[in-house]
Amino acid sequence: MKLIIVKPELHKFASCAEFAEAFKLGENDLVLTNEYIFNPYFGKLNLPVHTIFQEKYGAGEPTDVMVDAIAADAVKTGCKRIIAIGGGTVIDIAKVLAVSDGGPVDALYDNVANLEKRHELVIVPTTCGTGSEVTNISIINRTRIGTKMGLASEKMFADAAVLVPELLSSLPFGVFATSSIDALVHAVESSLSPKATAYTKLFGYKAIEMIIRSYQKLVKEGREVLGGLMEDFLIASNYAGLAFGTAGCAAVHAMSYPLGGTYHVPHGESNYAMFTGVLKNYMEIKQDGEIAVMNGYLADLLGCGVGEVYDKLEELLNQVLPKKALHEYGVTVQDLDTFTEAVMTTQGRLMGNNFVPLDAERVRKIYGELY
Ligand SMILES: [Fe+2]
Repeated sequence: MKLIIVKPELHKFASCAEFAEAFKLGENDLVLTNEYIFNPYFGKLNLPVHTIFQEKYGAGEPTDVMVDAIAADAVKTGCKRIIAIGGGTVIDIAKVLAVSDGGPVDALYDNVANLEKRHELVIVPTTCGTGSEVTNISIINRTRIGTKMGLASEKMFADAAVLVPELLSSLPFGVFATSSIDALVHAVESSLSPKATAYTKLFGYKAIEMIIRSYQKLVKEGREVLGGLMEDFLIASNYAGLAFGTAGCAAVHAMSYPLGGTYHVPHGESNYAMFTGVLKNYMEIKQDGEIAVMNGYLADLLGCGVGEVYDKLEELLNQVLPKKALHEYGVTVQDLDTFTEAVMTTQGRLMGNNFVPLDAERVRKIYGELY
């Protein structure tokens, strides 16, 4: 049994200048990032690096079309090392670049068992959610087949993950909200996964505690204190990444992908739309085992009885990001069947990590309840 994967080296620096110096950023490096991150934080350093600004290739989460265009341009630079500085989109694309020869991403999905690492990879997250700097999976919206799908390979791990809290100082509140809720979902789903171990739960439960305590402080004291909490959120997100990197995510993620893919809902927000709905259905099927441990842990943090943890959790989360019903995103009743079909046919990797197995009827029921 795999206890925990401890893959990239972890680093933390107080400033971008310290990071650039320690990693000797230079002409053999391709920095994949966004212009609004690179210019204010790295512009004044005058680094002789190559840059690709992701937003020039399209807005939102990565699509097959966007990744193909970036990979084609990246290969032309001849760079040896990829430095990803950004949120989930930039990081997911950089992992693909690490194994890409410049060809289409569809070919990588078709040949996943034989991917080769072609570039060293350094990942610097600029949001506090994905934990993706320590995992080996990219989620791409495969517009040609109409769903988001994970591409995962041993060869897609970064060589180094670097935390620079300075980079989060100008994070917009909306991005903070969706990304930190994503981290909370990673921690909860991975801790309930049948693949969870004492090691993954050490990181998972600690991440839950850090995120909930920080939300409580934020709600009580106001948004002015957010800057001081950001390092905790960044570390909690990294912990949650270590937890789900081994134990996996599950139905919340699986069921959120059709919503995110079809209606362009940010990843953390589409997860939140499914989060407590999935947990409540787990509880209808099985009330003992890890879910009892989880609910007891949440009850302690939230200061409530175990019977009301999901309502209290939602009450807290709604003050960070208001939860919407699925119809508010434009979802139709017919979509619920299409989404169910997509989950059951394309999300087997995630659905295998559910606390208890969920069949098509149950998935359709959950979508119906959240509609
Ligand atoms: Fe996620």
